[in-house]
Amino acid sequence: MLRRVLLPGLAVLLLAPAGLHAQPNRGEVAVYSARHYDTDRQLYDAFTRATGIRVRLIEGDADQLVERIRTEGANSPADVLITVDAARLARAKDAGVTQPHGSAVIDQRVPAGLRDADGQWFAVSQRARVIMFDKQRGAPEGLARYEDLADPRFRGTICVRAANHPYNVSMVASILAADGAEATEAWARGVAQNLARPPQGGDRDQFRAIPSGQCQLAISNTYYLAAFGASQDPADRTLFERIGVIFPNQAAGDRGAHVNVSGAAMVRTSPNRENAVRFLEYLTTPEAQQILALGNMEYPVVDGVPLHPALVAMGSFRGEAIHATQSAQNAAEALRIMQRSGWR
Ligand code: FE2
Repeated sequence: MLRRVLLPGLAVLLLAPAGLHAQPNRGEVAVYSARHYDTDRQLYDAFTRATGIRVRLIEGDADQLVERIRTEGANSPADVLITVDAARLARAKDAGVTQPHGSAVIDQRVPAGLRDADGQWFAVSQRARVIMFDKQRGAPEGLARYEDLADPRFRGTICVRAANHPYNVSMVASILAADGAEATEAWARGVAQNLARPPQGGDRDQFRAIPSGQCQLAISNTYYLAAFGASQDPADRTLFERIGVIFPNQAAGDRGAHVNVSGAAMVRTSPNRENAVRFLEYLTTPEAQQILALGNMEYPVVDGVPLHPALVAMGSFRGEAIHATQSAQNAAEALRIMQRSGWR
């Protein structure tokens, strides 16, 4: 806009030489984030207090941010990309917008199952996708694995949001990785037949319909229910007390409950690499992990960080490894399988 009102002779002074990289700024790290939680701003403020490095935050939809980094190319000011969902992180890596962070500190703090095999990104927090039931009716028999949800004994009992939501796509991608395409398609057909109603609403709406009996089983992420346990509203806490949680696939030798993660990566064209590493390492400190875990009711990725009491009340579990390298391909196939199965 400015350039248009300048005289042609002056405008030429504003043109940058071709291929010029964004100038490093020692006092700053530019974070492109697809997470929109108040907690994250507390986290960035704490980082600035600890290091003196300011966080320049650009928020947006994950795919838009990746596209923006690609379009900005060598001139991109982006140092760090943060988003939710392993499949999206894998897509960012495939799109060539990330690079290995090269930090031994991160590799040592974050378990291998929560890191990209090539060191291009790592999880900063996790939530489990679990099965919920009505404690007043009692725990459903024969329901210990995601695979059991397709059993005809659960006809007309399951509530879950639309198939194409990334939470469901990632869950089915993990079943696909474990069981193969044929078994997963049969499973998805079984789940579609067991639905209590056509998919509607978000995760909260599924377990909210449990007390009325409309839904006997709900599939939801843990942090949505935990928020009811932490609510100031007594009605919310009553609902929390009533809902039981099954962490699936916990038997010895089984793969563990499906987790979806938030993760961070260093942008390939990062102009402030040193600050980017400091920021990424900061995300794995107990201080940062505690802000993430307590503020948004998520599970930390490092040991020794206290959980929110509402999460403690829901019980402990073992999470699966995130199949980092498989999730992007599996996500696309998982969605096709779900759409063929009648789960809309
Ligand atoms: Fe969510």
